[in-house]
Amino acid sequence: MITKKPKLMMNGHTDEIYTPEYALNPILPYLKKEWTIWENAWGTGVLAKHLIKKGFKVSSEDGDIILTNPPYSDKEGFLERAYKRGKPFAFLLPLTTLEGKKRGELFKKYGVQLIIPNRRINFIMPNKQGGSWFQTAWFCWKLNLPKQLNFVELEKQELKSMGAENQSEVQDDK
Ligand SMILES: C[S@@+](CC[C@H](N)C(=O)[O-])C[C@H]1O[C@@H](n2cnc3c(N)ncnc32)[C@H](O)[C@@H]1O
Repeated sequence: MITKKPKLMMNGHTDEIYTPEYALNPILPYLKKEWTIWENAWGTGVLAKHLIKKGFKVSSEDGDIILTNPPYSDKEGFLERAYKRGKPFAFLLPLTTLEGKKRGELFKKYGVQLIIPNRRINFIMPNKQGGSWFQTAWFCWKLNLPKQLNFVELEKQELKSMGAENQSEVQDDK
């Protein structure tokens, strides 16, 4: 049986998944207002626009912290390069990013702290129907979170209020 999930992945569309504004809420308390945020997987600028709206200076080339929802096809590359740069980072990634030998080695060597929302995020997927089929978390480094695993409540918001009027109604998992 062929399901929607592998089909989407095989077609290489999984990198084009944009972040709704409310997904930022759990990470905001850890961002210093004076920081320039380096959005290094800009895409169409959806996440950058939210950050600018919230009063942050945002750059696609450099900054005090790397914050993005990176392409899932290159999770390892983004993590490895960020660790090597030595700057704090916050990456919104599937929880399954914890799996994998190479990523495990990186997490073991450098450390990682997670902010885990209590529900799946309704990502903005251009021309796609259906909700996110995966749970994500903010993978953080050098942000001095209170715990290694920080479980947070994420307020459910409808896509219409996130400025994605063209997006079909999507379902939340809870
Ligand atoms: C999951 S999307 C998120 C986009 C944006 N960060 C957001 O949250 O709305 C990842 C984006 O990274 C872009 N991308 C893919 N490979 C990249 C690379 N090597 N460097 C920078 N961006 C890349 C993709 O085209 C895609 O738009």
